[in-house]
Amino acid sequence: MVVIKKICCIGAGYVGGPTCSVIAQMCKDIAVTVVDVNAERIKAWNSNQLPIFEPGLQEVVESCRGQNLFFSTDIDKAIKEADLVFISVNTPSKTFGIGKGRAADLKYIEACARRIAEVGIGNKIVVEKSTVPVRAAESIRRIFNANTKCNLNLQVLSNPEFLAEGTAIKDLKNPDRVLIGGDETPEGGKAIQALKSIYERWVPENKIITTNTWSSELSKLAANAFLAQRISSINSISALCEATGADVEEVAHAIGTDQRIGSRFLKASIGFGGSCFQKDVLNLVYLCEALNLPEVARYWQQVIEINDYQRRRFAARVIGCLFNTVTDKKIGLLGFAFKKNTGDTRESSSIYVSKYLMDEGAKLHIFDPKVKKEQIIQDLSQTSICDDDPDRVSRLVTVALDPYEACKNAHAIVICTEWDMFKELDYEKIYKAMLKPAFIFDGRRILDSLHGKLQHIGFQVETIGKKVTELIPFTAKKEISRMDLQAPAAKKLKI
Ligand code: UDX
Ligand code: UDX
Repeated sequence: MVVIKKICCIGAGYVGGPTCSVIAQMCKDIAVTVVDVNAERIKAWNSNQLPIFEPGLQEVVESCRGQNLFFSTDIDKAIKEADLVFISVNTPSKTFGIGKGRAADLKYIEACARRIAEVGIGNKIVVEKSTVPVRAAESIRRIFNANTKCNLNLQVLSNPEFLAEGTAIKDLKNPDRVLIGGDETPEGGKAIQALKSIYERWVPENKIITTNTWSSELSKLAANAFLAQRISSINSISALCEATGADVEEVAHAIGTDQRIGSRFLKASIGFGGSCFQKDVLNLVYLCEALNLPEVARYWQQVIEINDYQRRRFAARVIGCLFNTVTDKKIGLLGFAFKKNTGDTRESSSIYVSKYLMDEGAKLHIFDPKVKKEQIIQDLSQTSICDDDPDRVSRLVTVALDPYEACKNAHAIVICTEWDMFKELDYEKIYKAMLKPAFIFDGRRILDSLHGKLQHIGFQVETIGKKVTELIPFTAKKEISRMDLQAPAAKKLKI
């Protein structure tokens, strides 16, 4: 039995950092070193201001940092000493060349593989933690085989991470399952056992699934695609609800009680965000196309199309309700993170809703309890968001320090992230300070229990997947809300 005494994790991001912190806490006899090329990030991991916000993470880090958990920029040393190396670097969509915008860019994974082959000595298990296209492990293996040294023996495993941001520590400590894929050879089997024995310290054996490498890699892509598909499915139904008078929350509850469907991940929203869903579904689409499976590719592409549509549809509803013009109107936009309990804004739907409102000249006053001003400005200044006019961001965007400031003198409040604090705001105070009629657009269905109260105060309440206000002073005609917010020409959809 191979015994793991030292672990190295390359990539101190949202996945590598929390995962290895929990491993260190659960396995006090194993020294875990998390390394990263980004010195600033490592400095933050070694400080009291961790580089990412994740409930419970600080306590886990503090319970073992400096004892058996270390953060370092000395990548070579950590690789050399480790019995097991996790690769947790990012795998963004390619921004150029073949597969641009869809295929995963594996340059960081490849760089890690080459580094391990170059500086590694002894026996090592190399574990793919990052989400990768199927058969990526094959590329790593080929790099290893082409760079063999007599004093280095490497086994490659796939061990995708299923944690969700905002609940990462809970997910890591009590996972639905741990998936380990490896070679169907005696050496592969031994490597799987070695990794399994680490998780077995706190995960029941029946929750640890072992498969061949390709099944493991594909399962991660498929799991994210299925989850994203559920959200697009319920969001497509939300459009139908708004058009018919049905309520998407009631529909979700009614269908979710069917055990075959299940109740989770049926929350209609302004669309899914985050670093994984869009990237992984697009990656799956690209893979299908590359394998000459165009029908399968088109099927999954539609999950993305509906997500884009939902974001546009929501922004169109805001504009339509505000008498079909938001030009120079102040809008208080609450929530910029892609979900609550994280400061992460990658692919956040807030970015796209902001874009569509900025396209119409709205003055956005944005508040998020965990996202820094610089991050908001950076996200909205991306060329594709600000239409190559960065001045537009300084003209139209103000980052507010509290929600009341964001909503003062505003025509409308637009809720984009489901932060709990937005349920507890003093809406009477907010209403008094707003222009009338005062609108609330709830893109997350977090104010359902307050609708009566809000309407009593005087608000015009609009929410995803339900008609709340029957009599609003102006209802946009269908052709008006179908106006400018169309899909980009390449993937045009009728709204
Ligand atoms: C996640 C998952 O790991 C991956 O499964 C998914 O495909 C993409 O996102 P995440 O941890 O969220 O990655 O990414 P990020 O927070 O960007 O962290 C990656 C880290 O790797 C960064 O800190 C980066 O500096 C580091 N890195 C990247 C290296 O240390 N070396 C490299 O060569 C490249
Ligand atoms: C996801 C997967 O859940 C996780 O297993 C994988 O490892 C990484 O990708 P994450 O992106 O961190 O995790 O968060 P998740 O909770 O899945 O939410 C993704 C997006 O979907 C968020 O924008 C969220 O608000 C949205 N969402 C989620 C909905 O709109 N409705 C839902 O019912 C659930």
